[in-house]
Amino acid sequence: MIASPTPTTTGPARAVRKAVVPAAGLGTRFLPATKATPKEMLPVVDKPAIQYVVEEAAAAGLDDVLMITGRNKRAIEDHFDHALELEQTLAAKGDTVRLDAVRDPARLADIHHIRQGEPLGLGHAVLCARRHIGDQPFAVLLGDDLIDPRETLLSRMLDVQGRYAGSVVALMEVPADQIHLYGCAAVEATGEQGVVRVTGLVEKPAPERAPSRYAVIGRYVLDPAVFGVLERTAPGRGGEIQLTDALQDLAAGGTVHGVVFDGLRYDTGDKAEYLRTVVRLACDRPDLGPGFTAWLKEFVAGLAGGGDGALDGTGGHLAA
Ligand code: UTP
Repeated sequence: MIASPTPTTTGPARAVRKAVVPAAGLGTRFLPATKATPKEMLPVVDKPAIQYVVEEAAAAGLDDVLMITGRNKRAIEDHFDHALELEQTLAAKGDTVRLDAVRDPARLADIHHIRQGEPLGLGHAVLCARRHIGDQPFAVLLGDDLIDPRETLLSRMLDVQGRYAGSVVALMEVPADQIHLYGCAAVEATGEQGVVRVTGLVEKPAPERAPSRYAVIGRYVLDPAVFGVLERTAPGRGGEIQLTDALQDLAAGGTVHGVVFDGLRYDTGDKAEYLRTVVRLACDRPDLGPGFTAWLKEFVAGLAGGGDGALDGTGGHLAA
C-alpha cells in the first residue's frame, strides 16, 4: 500500500491559474449536427455549451483558458473574440443587454487557442497544452461536460490539489450498467469526507471488470508531471491516447486523489442528455422559465393522457 500524502492545512502552495478546455473531438455521437460545428458550440438555451464551461473556470478564479480546437476551430475562436460589426450595430441601437451578451465571452478570461492537428485522443489533446502550461498544476474542463453553475466542484478540486498536491479527478457514482461509458477509478478512503485516494484507473471497463462504480467525469486538476507520462503513453482503447491511461500511471505512484461529486452534471455530447440539459436549464431561467415550464407541464400532461403533447390543444404554443 502506498502512503497517502498528508494534506497541508496552510492552503494552496501554488495557486492554479490556467485551465485547458479540450474541444477537438469528432463528436460522432451528435452527427450530423457536428459535421461542420464542434459539439461544444451546440446551444444550451442561448449560449454554446463551451461558454458555460469557461464561465465555470472563471468563477473558480482561473483567468487563463487554453482551448484545444480541431478542424472546425473558427466557430470557437470567433465566439470568444470581439464581433466589431455586431457590437457597433447593437451599440447604435442602444441595445445594451444584447451588447453585453455579445461582449461577455471575450471578457471571461484571457483566452488562447491551439490546434490539435489530428484527434488522436483526449490525452493527446492535453499534451498539446504543454508549452502553454509550463511546470505549474492546471485544470482541465471538457468542453461538452457541464456542471450546474450552482455547484462548486472545481473550487473543491482546486482546494484538494492545494492541500494534497499531485493530481485530482472528479468522481461520480453511476449505476453498474453505465460504468462501461466512463473511465473508472479504484479508490481508498482518506479519512476526509468526499475525498478519496485513487489507486487505479481503467478506461471504459466491462461491468464485471470495473473496480468500482466511480466514474471519472470531465474535470481534472493535473500535476504537470502528466505531460511526461502522456509523451510515453501508447494509444490505448479505440486507438486513442487516453488521459485515463496516463492518470493510471500517476495513480500507481500514489499521487492522484478524487473528489466525489453528487451534484448536477450534464453530458451535452449525448443527444438524449443534451435535450434534458436544455429543458432543465430553460426551466431555471428567470426570463424563460415560467412560460416554458407552464408549456412543459401541459405537454407532459398531454403525453400522459395518451395524446401527442405539443399538438394537443393549447400545449402546442409556448406561453409568452
Ligand atoms: P469524447 O470522448 O466525448 O469524444 O471526448 P468525441 O470524439 O469528441 O465525441 P464522440 O464520442 O465521437 O461523440 C471528450 C472530450 O475530449 C475532447 C472532446 O472534444 C471532448 O471535449 N477531445 C477528444 C479532444 O479534444 N481531442 C481528441 O482527440 C478527442
